[in-house]
Amino acid sequence: MAFFTGKVALVTGGSSGIGRATAVAFARQGAKVVVASRRVAEGEETIGLVKAAGSEGFFIKTDVTNEADIKTMVEKTITAYDRLDYACNSAGMEQQPTPITEQTEETFDQIVNINFKGIWLSMKHQISQMLQNGGGAIVNISSAAAIRPIPGIHLYNASKEAVLGLTKSVALDYAKSGIRVNAICPGGVKTEMFERFTKDNPQAADAIIQMHPMGRVGESEEIADGVVWLCSDQASFVTGQILAIDGGFILQ
Ligand SMILES: NC(=O)c1ccc[n+]([C@@H]2O[C@H](COP(=O)([O-])OP(=O)(O)OC[C@H]3O[C@@H](n4cnc5c(N)ncnc54)[C@H](O)[C@@H]3O)[C@@H](O)[C@H]2O)c1
Repeated sequence: MAFFTGKVALVTGGSSGIGRATAVAFARQGAKVVVASRRVAEGEETIGLVKAAGSEGFFIKTDVTNEADIKTMVEKTITAYDRLDYACNSAGMEQQPTPITEQTEETFDQIVNINFKGIWLSMKHQISQMLQNGGGAIVNISSAAAIRPIPGIHLYNASKEAVLGLTKSVALDYAKSGIRVNAICPGGVKTEMFERFTKDNPQAADAIIQMHPMGRVGESEEIADGVVWLCSDQASFVTGQILAIDGGFILQ
């Protein structure tokens, strides 16, 4: 029996990688899926995969750093489906390793706005709607680098750690309202982000793989499975938690 029949899920950053795999995983469990991201063609491609998985959904072009976009994203979800049960906030960007003395204010603003402000804005509007439903579940995608920092990507590490603080404190406030809020810390995962991070430095890919005790990086579907579990009733007593899905990365 599907976990999410009759339910509605929203995924930010759903045009690729972990967000796309999560949209498909929600669809396989019977949820209608709204995909919000910046890239239209790729977002529509995800909706094709949602339909192929046996469900329905639609794409909304959204920049998670823009509150008007986030408000519209939630409003259009409600106009179409009348409710919002689950959200996975996966939109994010990487940082190339750079000495702090050479980092720019522009990079700071970009990373903090997408990785941190984007999650804050998303939760603000998702929770406002979930309160009207009488409950819901949110999973924020942080990173294993929030727990075990990767050298040279200070802003990325810190922005992902900020997501954990936000997740725990928002979870606390809404625990009695039936809204569960958790975070997943993926280890390295084979996505466009991983390709961009390692493309100019093939040795970096090997070095990252070696940082994982399992001797490999993950697949997006392995992270999506965690999102589905955290949103499901099987996790009904779980809130404010940080789930590392990382091949053992944070153990060392
Ligand atoms: N791949 C990894 O190794 C890894 C490891 C740990 C954590 N993560 C986190 O997982 C999440 C998903 O990343 P991924 O690996 O799937 O990479 P990805 O690049 O495939 O996905 C990121 C998505 O976010 C979207 N996005 C970026 N900025 C946006 C904005 N301003 N508004 C709306 N959408 C925006 C991109 O278009 C893309 O679809 C990110 O938060 C990332 O930090 C990834």
